[in-house]
Amino acid sequence: MNETQNYFLKEIEDSDIENIYRGLSDPEITRYYDVHYPTLEATKEQMEWYKNLRKNKTGLWWGIYDKKHQQFCGAGGFNDWDRKHKRAEIGFWLLKEYWGKGILKEVMPLLFEMGFTQLDLRRIEGYVVSDNSKCKRALGKINFTYEGTMRDYEVKNNETISLDIYSVLKSEWI
Ligand SMILES: CC(C)(COP(=O)(O)OP(=O)(O)OC[C@H]1O[C@@H](n2cnc3c(N)ncnc32)[C@H](O)[C@@H]1OP(=O)(O)O)[C@@H](O)C(=O)NCCC(=O)NCCS
Repeated sequence: MNETQNYFLKEIEDSDIENIYRGLSDPEITRYYDVHYPTLEATKEQMEWYKNLRKNKTGLWWGIYDKKHQQFCGAGGFNDWDRKHKRAEIGFWLLKEYWGKGILKEVMPLLFEMGFTQLDLRRIEGYVVSDNSKCKRALGKINFTYEGTMRDYEVKNNETISLDIYSVLKSEWI
């Protein structure tokens, strides 16, 4: 079982659609994301995305559950898995009621571990919208190295956004 002291991870399945919808329909959660699903029906697209990652071996995502109440708290995982270059992008979100409890600090290192062992990665990278202060404060509490900022890298709703890049390497982890 992929677990920490207080949380465990379970691969996302179609039956998790309600949980995913609760998260990715919340504008405060998707504020810095390229996806937002206003309806349960629309969320089917995201469930397809998770399924295709696994089918095409281009990533894997898990639901995050608390051990005490067996409740769904959020999701984390890998996409853009490049098996030739042994690297992948990591992602992570929590339902709002679980914000501010240090869950990223406890769970993201487990994802790193799984990436380096189960996906045989050498490099794990994260792209964070530069204005996403909550995320950056959380990442500041773990061993995830800030590498730099890609300035005015994307245009979203007619606004240019910059992206910060973080990474952790197997050589510095294990
Ligand atoms: C990014 C995220 C996963 C942070 O995880 P977390 O486990 O809550 O992280 P922390 O407990 O360390 O809190 C991080 C910061 O969030 C802010 N925060 C804490 N509780 C909060 C709350 N209830 N409401 C709003 N912000 C809060 C604080 O600024 C905190 O920093 P501090 O502890 O230095 O004061 C969470 O905010 C989230 O799911 N955001 C939406 C998805 C997203 O942006 N993901 C990007 C990838 S990181």
